[in-house]
Amino acid sequence: MNDYHNPMHRDISRVLISQYQIGARVREMAQQITDDWQRDGDDDITIIPILTGAMIFCGDLIRHMPVQLKIGLLAVSSYPGASLRTQGSQIVSQQVGDIHGRHVLLLDDILDSGGTLKLVVPALQELGAEKVRTCVMLRKNRPEAKAVQVDYVGFDIPDEFVVGYGLDYNNYYRNLPDIVTLTGEAIERHK
Ligand code: IMP
Ligand code: MG
Repeated sequence: MNDYHNPMHRDISRVLISQYQIGARVREMAQQITDDWQRDGDDDITIIPILTGAMIFCGDLIRHMPVQLKIGLLAVSSYPGASLRTQGSQIVSQQVGDIHGRHVLLLDDILDSGGTLKLVVPALQELGAEKVRTCVMLRKNRPEAKAVQVDYVGFDIPDEFVVGYGLDYNNYYRNLPDIVTLTGEAIERHK
């Protein structure tokens, strides 16, 4: 579809990371994760995308990981409605399956305040996971994010509010293939 006819196009202020850069980086990350897993002799893992934001990232990543894996789901709410800063994370539902004694790869779209990972990693350990590795597509350049231990990072980005590739504003824009910032007008309109 021609972007000119895409009504979301006019809401984009700046493209931070293009779909082509994302695609290349996702393949690199999948390779690195697969290599690390095989090196450690882990041959059956559970991948858990944190919903809803990590859904698209997960779909792309696992198709470049030729290993035996299961998928578990976990939904966390941190940006209720039209907020631009996290309001504190909460696990709202989980279907991770039996992860007792299993090796888990936890995926999130973005590491911002770190509240989500600090909540979810211990929760998975509580459920008996033997090893939990963490992977985020984006990490914001702020001290709170840098202070959180994370195993794989796709891109470090400035401390700005971004949408696309799974990330939303008030649950919109997740389907944009690029990672972008929004115009002030779009932010006002979806409040
Ligand atoms: P944290 O718990 O503050 O690290 O934030 C993680 C969650 O907040 C992510 O899973 C996102 O859902 C959301 N989030 C953080 N920054 C942004 C952003 O710039 N755009 C959209 N969602 C964001
Ligand atoms: Mg999220």
